[in-house]
Amino acid sequence: MKWILLFGALIVPSICGREKFSGDQVFRINVRNGDEISKLNELMKSDHLKLNFWKSPSTLGLPVDVLVSSASLQPVTVFLQSQGLDYSVTIEDLQALLDEEHEEMQHNEEQERSNGNFNYGAYHSLEAIYREMDSIAGDFPHLASRVKIGRSFENRPMYVLKFSTGKGSQRPAIWLNAGIHSREWISQATAMWTARKIVSDYGKDPAVTSILEKMDIFLLPVANPDGYVYTHTQNRLWRKTRSHHPGSSCIGVDPNRNWNASFAGGGASDNPCSEVYHGPHANSEVEVRSVVDFIQEHGNFKCFVDLHSYSQLLMYPYAYTDKKAPDADELDKVAKRAAKALASLSGTRYHVGSICSTVYKASGSSTDWAYENGIKYSFTFELRDTGHYGFLLPANQIIPTAKETWLGLKTIMQYARDHLY
Ligand SMILES: *[C@@H]1O[C@H](CO)[C@@H](O)[C@H](O)[C@H]1NC(C)=O
Ligand SMILES: [Zn+2]
Repeated sequence: MKWILLFGALIVPSICGREKFSGDQVFRINVRNGDEISKLNELMKSDHLKLNFWKSPSTLGLPVDVLVSSASLQPVTVFLQSQGLDYSVTIEDLQALLDEEHEEMQHNEEQERSNGNFNYGAYHSLEAIYREMDSIAGDFPHLASRVKIGRSFENRPMYVLKFSTGKGSQRPAIWLNAGIHSREWISQATAMWTARKIVSDYGKDPAVTSILEKMDIFLLPVANPDGYVYTHTQNRLWRKTRSHHPGSSCIGVDPNRNWNASFAGGGASDNPCSEVYHGPHANSEVEVRSVVDFIQEHGNFKCFVDLHSYSQLLMYPYAYTDKKAPDADELDKVAKRAAKALASLSGTRYHVGSICSTVYKASGSSTDWAYENGIKYSFTFELRDTGHYGFLLPANQIIPTAKETWLGLKTIMQYARDHLY
């Protein structure tokens, strides 16, 4: 027994526990012009520094956030100072924040075990999310059902909640997607709150009732289940899928560069070690293919919304080109209306624009695919915050985030309901 443990520890040390980020810091760098962006690009290309860009340089010129390991703090600081780049430290000790999050989750799990309730203001394991999806369907059997749309690379089931009041099977439909990037925990949590909101407001809120009189809603809270489990067990900051690639020791594909929309174009990488690796071919990721197959088989989706974090943005196609989408003016109008509704709750401000003109060029993205495949009302949210906590948004912001996002989502869904085509 002893030697087996030792053997395991020597060969695959990462299996023995969560990756630690002690002393690692997140830097916020303000880039004000092209010259500063090229200086930053130099830093981005320095593979030996092992930087992890949480927020890359954007078209809008938003500040850049980068995770710097404790070993790279000195060289990075020296570089930034010598180049005269303006920066600050937003997270002083990443591990401390991770420990807090972990403790809070464990405490919540204990409470949930004793009272049997799913706490919508907490982060959860995949198992707990799947269980709660089942109980939503059980509580509202005439409105909600849990549907399996496929299995992940590591063979986990992929579940959507279908909300439907109609008898017809191919009513016009809305697809709500979350968690395609596994570390963006606020997206999965917001999706779960939204699911509960839909069932509790049907028959009470005329907007929800009338949406569901005409349309079905499909909600996928964890679009990347393997990645999500990995963020709980191994590395909280994992973004990609967990698929393997012959000839490389690097794992995973960016599932939001893997869709069949200008696949392998700008803003994606052909390097399997990259955080934006597009994969060997379009739909190579079974998680993406399962959604594509489901949507194509259904054939009547009118609205597609993908929830990400962070940055507080509400965007529409295109991502792969700076050309204006044929419906850009209408989508811009809808997005502005949704952002206004969202802000009405507690003043949270969102930027609105096309993906390419707001953040950066990205080929193979979900919303471009949806749009090019006839789903006109196609939007991407980047939820809270703007970088103070980034991916580690504290659990006490889940419900405030979900509530305001709901007002934006409802605006989009109502618009789609009134503009079926
Ligand atoms: C991608 O879409 C094109 C048409 O736009 C089609 O010819 C091709 O077969 C699709 N590829 C995959 C992998 O689905
Ligand atoms: Zn994302």
